[in-house]
Amino acid sequence: MSKQAEKKNAALKAVEYVKSGMTLGLGTGSTAYFAIEAIGEQWQAGTLTDIRAIPTSEATARQAEGYGIPLLKLADVDRIDLTIDGADEFDPQLRLIKGGGGALFREKLVAFASDTMLVISDGSKEVAQLGAFPLPLEVLPKAVRLVQRVLNEKGYYAPQLRMTADNEPFLTDNQNYILDCALGQIPNPDELDLELHLIPGIVETGLFLGLATKVIMGKGDEVVEIG
Ligand code: A5P
Repeated sequence: MSKQAEKKNAALKAVEYVKSGMTLGLGTGSTAYFAIEAIGEQWQAGTLTDIRAIPTSEATARQAEGYGIPLLKLADVDRIDLTIDGADEFDPQLRLIKGGGGALFREKLVAFASDTMLVISDGSKEVAQLGAFPLPLEVLPKAVRLVQRVLNEKGYYAPQLRMTADNEPFLTDNQNYILDCALGQIPNPDELDLELHLIPGIVETGLFLGLATKVIMGKGDEVVEIG
């Protein structure tokens, strides 16, 4: 079973939780893509009605618009019924690293606003301890050198400024930069998240703690639900 098939199987299982009448959060990335596709097809077929969605990135907005799914801005709502999103890593407590696609800030706002957040994943994202995936930090461009220095001094060595294929700094949808921190292991994600939030210039971290309701993971032929 390919990774793509595992992602799609997880996404299709998650979409079973979507009901007519819901306000939805739509995640970003190659796994969320399959969920948006399935929701879009059901919307077009008329089997799903009266839904509206808040996209977590411009790319997701474009995909959803392609199906004619009614979109809202996060500023238009104060709560969301259900969000489906991917992750770069998850641990047994359903703590996540996200932001590989650079959409972590909007993804965190949408996850925080959601009554239920379903994380969809292939079999490779499950870890015993977070940290093998470099932790993305969204940083104000004018503070990036300052934040790099402070992180280096704290021992979070060599935070890398994310670059595009054209060798320009990658810009998030909020016009900020991303620093990727290869920490190797994160023994205490809660402590690290607090410490990072105390550094002015770090707009948001890719640690999603206490936000995921359930992980739905494609693993081989099976789909496993955790949480
Ligand atoms: C986007 O910013 C990320 O948080 C994605 O949700 C995460 O990188 C998972 O992406 P894939 O589904 O493409 O692996």
